[in-house]
Amino acid sequence: MIDKEAWNKQGFGVCENFIDPAKCDQIRAYCHDMLMKLPADHSSIFSSRHQNQNTSKYFLESGDKIRFFWEEGAFDDEGRMVRPKEQAINKIGHALHDLDPIFDSFSRQEKIAGLVRELVDYSDPHIIQSMYIFKQPYIGGEVLCHQDSSFIDTTPSSLIGVWIALEDATKENGCLWGIPGGHLEPLRSRYHLVDGGAVMTVVDETPWDLSQAVPLEVSKGSVLFFKGHFPHFSYENLSARSRQAYVLHILDGGATYIQDCWLQRSMPTRGFD
Ligand code: FE2
Repeated sequence: MIDKEAWNKQGFGVCENFIDPAKCDQIRAYCHDMLMKLPADHSSIFSSRHQNQNTSKYFLESGDKIRFFWEEGAFDDEGRMVRPKEQAINKIGHALHDLDPIFDSFSRQEKIAGLVRELVDYSDPHIIQSMYIFKQPYIGGEVLCHQDSSFIDTTPSSLIGVWIALEDATKENGCLWGIPGGHLEPLRSRYHLVDGGAVMTVVDETPWDLSQAVPLEVSKGSVLFFKGHFPHFSYENLSARSRQAYVLHILDGGATYIQDCWLQRSMPTRGFD
């Protein structure tokens, strides 16, 4: 049972030990196989410190595809990958949940569907995006404080994130941190399309009070969920362990998608059926 009062007040919550750890191991192994089967020429660098690199066609057209984004430190000056693929990958996005049958059933398993039904009262919740995040040992980069609604949202605002820990997430390996109650503050920026490219536009310059942030350490199989306006971030992973997570973003299928959000799809979104 979700503590609805805390969910609305804090903007986030956690279901400890929610997904069977064996299922987490299976999806990790499946993802590893997927990487091993990739042709050698896949490369597009993802870093939240260099948003301008995200204006590449490869990124901008990934909303309804399965695409692979790599760590900046994984390439030499000539663009050759200098790490094994499984240690160079930053994330896979953004339509695993629609295009891959294994991720489709993992994303739409009854436990997740039931959790979403408890969290929101949308008559038709849709999965708009999925991301498999690796947070690699030693090179997994910092993700600056942000609100997910800056990237994807509807009118009225309806986005929520469901973050499934596929490995233990601790302060050592770069767990999420968040500011309880920060979702009640205005949206700070919007990552949106302008003239065919994506730009980050600041809409409110108030800095986040990071002294209020708390670490959201969770064990493998636990699920964090947060509202689209909940400010969160993670530090670099300087440990020897990865911190893999699978994230779903869900919105109200009956609400109006904000047309200039960076994420564009030609394929319709689907709910949990
Ligand atoms: Fe986020």
